[in-house]
Amino acid sequence: MLDSDALRGRLVTRSPAILLPLIALVLLTATFDAKGTDRKVQVSDFGKTANGISVYRYTLTNDRGVEAAVISYGATLVSLKVPDRDGKIADVVLGYDTLDGYEQGASYFGGSIGRYGNRIAGGQFTLDGKVFQIPTNDGPNSLHGGTIGFNKRIWTAVDRSRSDADVLELSYTSPDEEEGYPGTLKVKVTYTLPAESNELRIDYMATTDKDTVLNLTNHSYFNLTGDASQTILDHQLTLHALKFTPVDSTLIPTGEERAVQGTPFDFTKPTAIGARINQDDEQLKFGKGYDHNWVLEKTDKVGLQPAAEVFDPTSGRVLEILTTEPGIQFYSGNFLDGTAKGKGGQLYAYRTGLALETQHFPDSPNHPKFPSTVLKPRQIYRSTTVLRFSTRK
Ligand code: GLA
Repeated sequence: MLDSDALRGRLVTRSPAILLPLIALVLLTATFDAKGTDRKVQVSDFGKTANGISVYRYTLTNDRGVEAAVISYGATLVSLKVPDRDGKIADVVLGYDTLDGYEQGASYFGGSIGRYGNRIAGGQFTLDGKVFQIPTNDGPNSLHGGTIGFNKRIWTAVDRSRSDADVLELSYTSPDEEEGYPGTLKVKVTYTLPAESNELRIDYMATTDKDTVLNLTNHSYFNLTGDASQTILDHQLTLHALKFTPVDSTLIPTGEERAVQGTPFDFTKPTAIGARINQDDEQLKFGKGYDHNWVLEKTDKVGLQPAAEVFDPTSGRVLEILTTEPGIQFYSGNFLDGTAKGKGGQLYAYRTGLALETQHFPDSPNHPKFPSTVLKPRQIYRSTTVLRFSTRK
């Protein structure tokens, strides 16, 4: 075996001329690295809102064919292109081609959700002895922040790209009492796409000047086939959760944390989403399918933890979700009814996309036993979720 030090020694001592191409190679590599420091998010116009505000589309790319596009309206993830097992790239999230789709849409495609992801019963909660009423927009309850949530606000974007990643930081200041919530809330959502790995990281940060409640998430709908004319019923799902939080008929948690074992809610092993979705089960009936929060394991530990895995057998695409959050809302696209005209004119039909919203539990402000969603002045809210893509045979 030829020892590399010996080889280097021989090259240096015996044939200095051979060093020239080597030096050239080193210089070339250095130039390539330096180019890496110039990573940049690409910006393009995405039209104007009905009120005449300009919206921009930001495209993050990596060196492995992954591309993520985010718009300043709603800090919304509008496109996420990833390879299948043959290297074929396709967009795996639902959305619209134009801004008015996002302005008029009621499905929250790819949106940054706030102030409160999922439902608050009766749109009401008590904080520091004071009752707060927020708009109800989902039967008797408030859903995803109220009438105009963060997904319908204009965010300010800054390119924070580094030598090893494309990074887009979006900021929004929510005034005191916006949608009835207390406190001026300064919130940042940062999307990071590393140059060398196929994962999109979403970091949330927020501060408030008054006690408030907060539960931020992203509402992407995935269809790993890359073809949203197909349902997600054959996708195999794993959830790292032994319990879920059952709901009442308006999808508000009852407060119970119920074992999934022996129920259609057991995704501890990879299971096709469609395998049990139509079973005669009260919880499935309430949700019109899956629309529930699972209690992630090891919630007492800090840091990113595996939460979910989705595998599409046709394309081989695998999505792993890691999060710092204690819960995940798995929603099987039960309210999609073929009326939303999506990208490329595709009408999104029943169960053609699935959402996995990493979050604190729904209606936590009214459930003292659930992990707290209270944010106080001088505290910093932080939350991270990673969408990691790979493929499998
Ligand atoms: C969440 C909710 C669902 C539904 C979707 C958006 O997943 O839990 O009930 O509102 O958002 O349509």
